[in-house]
Amino acid sequence: MKSNIVLIGISGSGKTTIGKMLAERLQMEFYDTDREIEKLTGKMISQYFAEYGEARFRLEETAMVKKLSQYDHCVISTGGGVVLNRQNIDYLQEKGTLICFSTRPEIILERIKADINRPLFHNGDPYQNILRLLRERKKLYQVAELTIDTSDMDFPDVVSEIHEFVK
Ligand code: S3P
Repeated sequence: MKSNIVLIGISGSGKTTIGKMLAERLQMEFYDTDREIEKLTGKMISQYFAEYGEARFRLEETAMVKKLSQYDHCVISTGGGVVLNRQNIDYLQEKGTLICFSTRPEIILERIKADINRPLFHNGDPYQNILRLLRERKKLYQVAELTIDTSDMDFPDVVSEIHEFVK
């Protein structure tokens, strides 16, 4: 078994919620790249995007991915755009098993519509943005060793499926 479990997938697919449950079940540390960036910079993701733009956020994200990838025995939940940079994947795969969550767009919309800390979705029509991002990233998410559709699953069942897979 590789040392880390890395969760990738679009916003609202359950990475953070399931990741925390998984870390607790397997007695591993939990890290979320976005929360770590917020701690480091003292800015919410939405604030960071507004002040510095996406390009600079991606640099910050890669630096954080590089740092967290060196840790051992942890569950790492990543931002939905982490797959846009191949370097991120290389870092994460060094010690980590990549698991992707996929989710139907209507469910993603339900989960994220009230969350204004997701700048890429709320600039324009959120549902159209979800469809576009899914289309643009579909291939990139295929880098995962296992993909789980979390749309209709209870999260504890997702945790069990991952546990079985990484045993
Ligand atoms: C992004 C997803 C967000 C966050 C940033 C960019 C994306 O993370 O990293 O707003 O490009 O899809 P979540 O997937 O945790 O919402």
